[in-house]
Amino acid sequence: MKKDFILILDFGSQYSQMMARRIREIGVYAILYPYNIPISNIVLKKPKGILLSGSPFSIYDEKPPLISRKLFQLNIPILGICYGMQLISFLFGGKIEKSKYKEYGRTNFIIDCPKNKLFHGIPKKSCVWMSHFDEVKNIPNELKGIGHTHSCAIAALIHKNKDIYALQFHPEVNHTEFGIQILKNFILHICKCHPNWEINNFVQKTVENIKKRVSSKKVILGFSGGVDSFVAAYIIQKAIGDSLYCIFVDTGFLLEKEKEKISHICKKMNFSIKIINAKERFFSSLDGVIDPEMKRKIIGKEFISIFQKESKKIKNVEFLAQGTIYSDVIESSTFHKNFSIKSHHNVGGLPDFMKLKLLEPLKELFKDEVRNLGKKLGIPKEILYRHPFPGPGLSIRILGKVNKKKVSILQKAESILLQELKNSDLYESVSQAFMVLLPVKSVGVMGDKRTYEYVAVLRVTKTEDFMTATFSHLPYNFLEKISNRIINEVDGINRLVYDITSKPPATIEWE
Ligand code: XMP
Repeated sequence: MKKDFILILDFGSQYSQMMARRIREIGVYAILYPYNIPISNIVLKKPKGILLSGSPFSIYDEKPPLISRKLFQLNIPILGICYGMQLISFLFGGKIEKSKYKEYGRTNFIIDCPKNKLFHGIPKKSCVWMSHFDEVKNIPNELKGIGHTHSCAIAALIHKNKDIYALQFHPEVNHTEFGIQILKNFILHICKCHPNWEINNFVQKTVENIKKRVSSKKVILGFSGGVDSFVAAYIIQKAIGDSLYCIFVDTGFLLEKEKEKISHICKKMNFSIKIINAKERFFSSLDGVIDPEMKRKIIGKEFISIFQKESKKIKNVEFLAQGTIYSDVIESSTFHKNFSIKSHHNVGGLPDFMKLKLLEPLKELFKDEVRNLGKKLGIPKEILYRHPFPGPGLSIRILGKVNKKKVSILQKAESILLQELKNSDLYESVSQAFMVLLPVKSVGVMGDKRTYEYVAVLRVTKTEDFMTATFSHLPYNFLEKISNRIINEVDGINRLVYDITSKPPATIEWE
């Protein structure tokens, strides 16, 4: 049976991904496409419903992202959210203007017309999440207002004869009290989707596809030891057995004893893996480099040349497999790249000289879906719930110039942090915890002696999707313990500070 799916036309909102995740949680497959995909392609794909996302743009910008009005003639139900609502209204002849009051955060929403399918079962008054600067000022003839808030007179619209709906607020955000119910009403009742997106069928289907695509060729896989590359390796191995060659590159920027841990787990799981010692090569290529983007680009290039070189040692290698997941794909799309903050090298930064074809079996899945899948496949908990670790590793956690001494200082500090988080049962309640070494020294006193050593930063975040994050509110006594241990046990650090910035405005990593 072909799966029903919802197509999200992505206008660049920070919430577009979350929207896809919410829909999948309802059990229906959802996929993002850039807003300018031709209408003829949409028709070919046969979605059961279309969502128009929010956007950092305004309709009255010089070149706003627009769609053709033909979309409304396809007889496919449409739901516009935030910018998506303004766009629908604009295309039907409505006027959009800057709001008198910027509305950001929680607000009360009042339904003016309860007799519509979108608000079925929703109380007249409820709490919703708003995030907008513009609003719809007049209602075009073909549309009708169905809800308002205190400062936004037109906060929901419906087409008088077609299944076209529009909301100024964000139903996909947890703070919208009945958001999931509204999405369910749209997806299950208006679009009539069958909830048949199940991760169980995924493995079988993916194994078959890999067998067909790879045939008698060989695959090398860049193995990082993280959950994504682990699950990818597991599935590929299921499909092609020992035609898969896993390669783990020791860049020299890994966590303490990482290589040993990886070898141990791979043995336990019967993965054959080749460990390449490339420390010297990575250190010398970063020698004197300060710029964060330059570090990322150099490292991405080194990785690929290593994979190319290794592939030549094995006969018949045609593919490079990676544990790329859906959020990597979205962030590296040309559209999102225009707003890109960093080059995450596993998708975006592949150099032109790369001759191997890419095999990315998880590229449709979100992180939590990969974890669920891993759980079903029996992958050990210590892998499934590992915090993410970036490909460039400690080199982007040592601000400025990188050298072996600084790496060793940071490895010791991170090791204490991770140990203590696990000892205090805090590891799984935070999403990512690490240390950053600053290129700054400060004066201290230890055993009556003056010290002049580096400042380190503790970065611990809580996040659902790594697109937005808050700093974790760790207990003070835990912070005190960490501080004491690190300053006492790690030579080279005499001051520890706690990063209390959220993302945005900061990012999770410092470089
Ligand atoms: P930022 O710093 O962009 O990080 O807020 C978001 C998440 O991505 C991880 N990260 C990377 N992962 N290659 C990776 O595989 C990279 O180059 C990279 N850079 C950042 C980061 O650790 C966080 O989980």
